[in-house]
Amino acid sequence: MPTPREAIKVIAHRGASADVPEHTLAAYRKAIEDGADGLECDVRLTSDGHLVCVHDRRVNRTSNGRGAVSALELADLAGLDFGSWKDTTRVGPVGPGAGRDTAVPVPPVSERPQWDAERTSVLTLERLLELVSDAGRRVELAIETKHPTRWAGQVEERLMTLLHRFGLAAPASAAASPVRVMSFSARSLHRVRAASPHLPTVQLMQFVGVRHRDGRLPPGVGISGPSIRILRGHPSYVEQVHRAGNRVHVWTVDEPADVALCADLGVDAVITNRPRAVLEQLGRG
Ligand code: G3P
Ligand code: CA
Repeated sequence: MPTPREAIKVIAHRGASADVPEHTLAAYRKAIEDGADGLECDVRLTSDGHLVCVHDRRVNRTSNGRGAVSALELADLAGLDFGSWKDTTRVGPVGPGAGRDTAVPVPPVSERPQWDAERTSVLTLERLLELVSDAGRRVELAIETKHPTRWAGQVEERLMTLLHRFGLAAPASAAASPVRVMSFSARSLHRVRAASPHLPTVQLMQFVGVRHRDGRLPPGVGISGPSIRILRGHPSYVEQVHRAGNRVHVWTVDEPADVALCADLGVDAVITNRPRAVLEQLGRG
């Protein structure tokens, strides 16, 4: 069944990342303030076993450092500035020359004012789970495991350990769970399902393989995560997924025409960098 437009979930992609540096605590706080139904984050494992919210394999684009997340320790990441590449409003050494290829000196996190630290510091998944737990309302969290990585299945092991600690690893049912795990890697989702059969999983897709064109998904997966490009080219895919008894969470839906398309098709959730604008367009502003 198509989802009515007011019931479409709006999920903030990397936080309110059109406005605030992606994957920072400030970006997620803003998304919650904006009224997002949920938050999306990418997770990677550091060399000393911490899950951090970073999209790229390397830190070069979103910080003033260099190197692969998987080869750095959390303390290394904590010394970097993950905000200035985007944020021209913060006090400090920004402007010409302070781009992604320039090492911008920033004070250690402990010496940064709090508002600044929240816009510039690496975010652990643990801290993000605390934010969600303390939100005072239901906030969904869509956690994307990034593969391939040298740490392979340890990513899911650490993830399950953390979810256990927050009492989120073994929901009574998929519908009751505020957390879901997404991945382009079917193997990653398989590991999650083996550890926690009721935790919802989302199979992300850049294209729809022949076996899945009828809306079916790998065993145990209940949500399809197509790119918006797939729906532009094949809008009937949404109906196929719904007919197969599954749901559709689309990424990354920023353009008003794309929001309108998703609303017309009755998808179940849109994942967007602009949660406030999308909520307004869906009549929930
Ligand atoms: O929400 C899914 C979407 O985030 C997948 O693509 O590259 O932005 O992680 P990416
Ligand atoms: Ca992602």
